[in-house]
Amino acid sequence: MNEIDVIIIGAGAAGLMCATEAGKRGRRVLILDHANKPGKKILMSGGGRCNFTNYQIHPDKYLSHNPHFCKSALKRYTQWDFIDLVKKYRIPFHEKKLGQLFCDDKAKDIVDMLLAECHLYGVSIHLNESIESIEKLEPNNFRLQTNETTYQCESLVIASGGLSIPTMGATAFGYKVAEQFGLKVWPVRAGLVPFTLHTEDKNKFDVLSGVACDTEVQVNHMSFRENILFTHRGLSGPAVLQISNYWLPGDMLNINLLPDTSLFNLLKQMQKEKPNSILKDVINHVLPKRLVAILLDNHPFALQALQSISHREFEKIAALFHGFQLKPNGTEGYRTAEVTIGGVDTNEISSKTFETNKQKGLYFIGEVVDVTGWLGGYNFQWAWSSGWAAGQYV
Ligand code: FDA
Repeated sequence: MNEIDVIIIGAGAAGLMCATEAGKRGRRVLILDHANKPGKKILMSGGGRCNFTNYQIHPDKYLSHNPHFCKSALKRYTQWDFIDLVKKYRIPFHEKKLGQLFCDDKAKDIVDMLLAECHLYGVSIHLNESIESIEKLEPNNFRLQTNETTYQCESLVIASGGLSIPTMGATAFGYKVAEQFGLKVWPVRAGLVPFTLHTEDKNKFDVLSGVACDTEVQVNHMSFRENILFTHRGLSGPAVLQISNYWLPGDMLNINLLPDTSLFNLLKQMQKEKPNSILKDVINHVLPKRLVAILLDNHPFALQALQSISHREFEKIAALFHGFQLKPNGTEGYRTAEVTIGGVDTNEISSKTFETNKQKGLYFIGEVVDVTGWLGGYNFQWAWSSGWAAGQYV
């Protein structure tokens, strides 16, 4: 029997952070992961450059059944704390847009930094090890049976992440452990994920594959101003990934294709200045041609000169572009989703220590918990903050 103070399941962002913090306190820490490498999602994140945090971290940018839960951890271990760590390791980084911080070189810099911290504080990491069973031993211990051996620990931290990208080692392990110990788990769904379209729309918009444009996308009283991208499967791009967190099956997307320009005013002005201009040509100047061709397909005024079109018609034409509507038939699911929405109910967990209320010594951190951030470094910051907070108590 191997006796250890703290076992952390999951060598991802949250698990590695929690391990170093517990190690700093002199705790003997072991991380177990069934994957063959630590931090696999960090390595593939941000297009290989890891968007590791955001200058604008704020609780408003997280979804949870309890929007207050994330506040304490985000306040105690902030983006500035993580930036200091990145600076200490002299990892070059830059702000790409909207406060999003990326490595200049490669995401591996972040994994190497976390592994160096683990090494510094004596954390052991066992890879390729699967947990077969967990048993609570009274009064204060857990016994874990793995494919290799048996362990006993005082504190057990579940940092096994969500369900996105199963090929990277994502499993429902954390939710099953929660259920084993009688904790409530909210239903889960894919988040930060592209949409698929109904066959008719898919066929219609297929020719737009590769077309991107700056838009404002709105659903359920939330809106995001960023690019959308038509793909051969449906709709993607940052605005679409962001809004997918708020979209429910059956919801219609409202897309303003010209968020900075009043098309009505533009058409009126052009009518005055260049009355012979053709409607379609004028709009082609402000939007991708292929998109305009689809929206004005068979439109009676598409090839008419502006002078022959009434202001009332201009209004209707402008509405087509400012209020473009599309009803997705679903999402691409966990295969391409960046995150999992839902998870272990925060009412079961202390927002200070991340220990569960029902089982002393059992902790949940990171994405497995019902806290999901926006696109842009918010999810890693949640992993760092929750991992750090638990690391002070395990
Ligand atoms: P994480 O998933 O990182 O780690 C969980 C670990 O548990 C894994 O190592 C896994 O192998 C292990 N595990 C799972 N089941 C197990 C089992 N049964 N037994 C043993 N081990 C098990 N976020 C962001 O802020 N900026 C970004 O740039 C990106 N980019 C990005 C790209 C892509 C493609 C994806 C899929 C996701 C992102 N994200 C992101 C989201 C971010 O990666 C995610 O929120 C964090 O990695 C969550 O950290 P955790 O430590 O909670 O889980």
